[in-house]
Amino acid sequence: MIVSPSLLSADFGYLANELDMLNNSEAEYIHVDIMDGVFVPNITFAFPVMKRIDQLSNKVMDVHMMIVEPQRFIGEVKKCGGDIMTVHYEASTHLHRIIQQIKDADMKASVALNPATPVSVLSEVIADLDMVCIMSVNPGYSGQKFISNAVNKVREAKELILKKGSKALIEVDGGINETTGKLVVDAGADVLVAGNYVFGAADPRQAISTLYNLK
Ligand code: DX5
Ligand code: ZN
Repeated sequence: MIVSPSLLSADFGYLANELDMLNNSEAEYIHVDIMDGVFVPNITFAFPVMKRIDQLSNKVMDVHMMIVEPQRFIGEVKKCGGDIMTVHYEASTHLHRIIQQIKDADMKASVALNPATPVSVLSEVIADLDMVCIMSVNPGYSGQKFISNAVNKVREAKELILKKGSKALIEVDGGINETTGKLVVDAGADVLVAGNYVFGAADPRQAISTLYNLK
């Protein structure tokens, strides 16, 4: 099981300590949410912060771009230490080209789907993808309630991946805790993003460990 703690819920006043805690945890990824106030109704941090996160972290940087025209920043994400770059289907007119550009930049390519977007829209690109991100909340904020239809979408994504001979991992993002995490893991999820559940816990490392041991 791959756990990807979402830094959006971290205490930014103590970012180095939070990253130190993650470095000593069972998390394999670190989830970095970039928002532009246009694609989603919220703005998060920009590239200088991301660069510093990369310097202080020994984890795989899983960058979730919730911005319009994400292709404009592929080079910048790579420069700031991005290992996996997730773009939204809904924000990417020429999705096939963007996927190739991310791979040409030597990053893993991943596409996220909003709750209202069916899995079938990925049928022509799934074989090229390293990861699919099923949003289990409407993107924009951490601490929202899990949308249970995501479990069906994970199952559908798994079927599509098998049918098309894809090696893509399935990530689920939004409202994950030990209960919702178990539901999506049983449906075929490989990567669990968790913000509030990890950073809101009395013992964040233990929370990561609980998710890590769900499979
Ligand atoms: C939401 C972000 C998520 C968020 C998850 O738009 O993409 O990564 O931080 O936070 P929780 O786990 O609290 O829902
Ligand atoms: Zn995210």
